[in-house]
Amino acid sequence: MQGMKLWIAASAVVGLLSVSASAGNADLVKQGEKIFNTKKIGNCLACHDANGKNIDNPGNLGPKLQGLSAWPEQALYDKVYDPYTTNPISAMPPFGKNGVLSDAQIKAVVAYLKTIK
Ligand code: HEC
Repeated sequence: MQGMKLWIAASAVVGLLSVSASAGNADLVKQGEKIFNTKKIGNCLACHDANGKNIDNPGNLGPKLQGLSAWPEQALYDKVYDPYTTNPISAMPPFGKNGVLSDAQIKAVVAYLKTIK
């Protein structure tokens, strides 16, 4: 019985790994949304309301995010990586430059941002 439980746990872990390795766009969007909303990771929510999403208590230091689906992916990536490149007095922290988010995490966030109309 113990062995069976271990086997189930192990295959659950393998399942998770293969999902992230072959992350399709929907998975990437989900990961990005989680990073966006999670305090300890992106915490974008502390400053941004994301249009059309049911989010409790968004912050308002940053602008309400909308129309981002029209932005080129590279522009979104650059904004999150280092907002100072486009706005030298930005109050937004440089998540990539400061090493808060990895390249893969920023790509996931960008996939999520692309869903914001
Ligand atoms: C400390 C507050 C703060 C946090 C945290 C923050 N931002 Fe910002 N953000 C801002 C401010 C202020 C601006 C407006 C100035 C600028 O464009 O640089 C902005 C601008 C933006 C823009 C451009 C919006 C537009 O319409 O021009 C995007 C996209 C964005 N932030 C995404 C994010 C993402 C994604 C995260 C989380 C990884 C995040 N922000 C976290 C404060 C913040």
